[in-house]
Amino acid sequence: TRNGLDFAVADLSLAEFGRKEIRLAEHEMPGLMALRREYAEVYPLKGARVSGSLHMTVQTAVLIETLVSLGAEVRWASCNIFSTQDHAAAAVVIGPHGTPEEPKGVPVFAWKGETLPEYWWATEKMLTWPDGGPNMILDDGCDATMLVHNGVQYEKAGVVPADDENDSDEWKVVLQTLRDSLAADSSKWTKIAEGIRGVTEETTTGVMRLYQLAAAGTLLFPAINVNDAVTKSKFDNRYGIRHSLIDGINRGTDVLIGGKVAVVCGYGDVGKGAAESLRGQGARVIITEIDPICALQAAMDGYDVKRLESVLDVADIVITTTGNKDVVTAEHMASMKHQSILGNIGHFDNELDMAGLSRYPGVKKVNIKPQVDEWVFPTGKSIIVLSEGRLLNLGNATGHPSFVMSNSFSNQVIAQIELFTKHQEYDKEVYRLPKVHDEKVARIHLAALGGELTKLTKEQAEYIDVDVEGPYKSDHYRY
Ligand code: NAI
Repeated sequence: TRNGLDFAVADLSLAEFGRKEIRLAEHEMPGLMALRREYAEVYPLKGARVSGSLHMTVQTAVLIETLVSLGAEVRWASCNIFSTQDHAAAAVVIGPHGTPEEPKGVPVFAWKGETLPEYWWATEKMLTWPDGGPNMILDDGCDATMLVHNGVQYEKAGVVPADDENDSDEWKVVLQTLRDSLAADSSKWTKIAEGIRGVTEETTTGVMRLYQLAAAGTLLFPAINVNDAVTKSKFDNRYGIRHSLIDGINRGTDVLIGGKVAVVCGYGDVGKGAAESLRGQGARVIITEIDPICALQAAMDGYDVKRLESVLDVADIVITTTGNKDVVTAEHMASMKHQSILGNIGHFDNELDMAGLSRYPGVKKVNIKPQVDEWVFPTGKSIIVLSEGRLLNLGNATGHPSFVMSNSFSNQVIAQIELFTKHQEYDKEVYRLPKVHDEKVARIHLAALGGELTKLTKEQAEYIDVDVEGPYKSDHYRY
């Protein structure tokens, strides 16, 4: 705690560098800056207490400071142990007008290279306000929301279950975190949940978890699915990945991608961006898919569609983008080529069976540098695993660039305003933002790129049965 602000970041002296990069990012984030101007004297988030769990990067710093400029109080943690940019975290703590001696920014609990217990400690800290609780959650992957839900569930039961031998290491940490909090305050999470007006969720995997809660009837507050805004998933997941996937591979390995055989598992939005990214470098790209529609799209886009087992003997690079689990098993890894590269860009590390790899008989892990490990099999053959199987674009590089995140985060801010100001109108369900917001976000970013939008005449608008000002598509249109 300094100047009344509690926080946990790596190094406050990095703040000046962070502030410089935030200043450059602001120019590249026209959507967020337009929202700041639009609401300059309105403060629609006045009274909002936002607990945020989302990669603590330079781009997220601009999001946080936008929420603050709209009137919100904010506490923040990262949603991944490797994704924090320490200079951005430091700058956010100090704030635009503070100093290292007198920080005036936002309490951030995040640093690059957290352990799992540290990660869950930080998540709990971010949800634990010194005076009262949060009334909004901004989530990426649903970890913050799940912690609240699990906390409430175990408080009702009066006990946190004992560890099961099949539990993952991470789940054991979550259970221990909840055991400790239950011992300290038996109604902590119930009180927090009662104060929350809603959550806005950033990513595909988090949205999936929210829909599961809603279907089970156990969702405790309304949620907005930000991911499925068109200007989010059709841009961030795709064009963001197109940029940041090869950035991560290059910074991690600096191996020439051209001419190599790259396998992309999954051809959804992220997979499409990943395949394009690798093909752009001249890789020969192969897709694996379980969904015949996405598989056919891949074929039509000119990629080979194969099963992973059929191509492991030729693959130089294997990247998972599925949001599913056990996509690459330890057996797969053992069959990969010598010094081939394995990485995941889906939300959780269970896409790769890292637990199975670490138990593989006779395997040895040789750390090359942070977030790059060589795993050596008893045969002497090895594979290079990026970011221990966690999001490699954020672990090995700096995630998506500002311009695309401005699209995503504009939707986040709009969703926060919507749920904070109109929460009475929402049930405990998962909602999507109306299309007018999507078109507004797109309009701002198109203008920033110098794009000229054609204007409908009144007659044309009537002919295709839309309003001259939009929305221009029906809700079932797929883009
Ligand atoms: P999506 O649902 O559009 O695509 C996933 C695809 O994987 C689907 O087409 C599905 O059929 C396929 N799939 C599922 N199981 C498979 C298997 N066993 N083998 C092969 N294919 C399989 O989801 P989206 O939006 O592409 O997101 C994918 C993951 O990436 C999610 O976990 C999401 O949260 C994450 N994400 C990561 C980002 C990053 O910066 N690293 C950015 C955005 C999303």
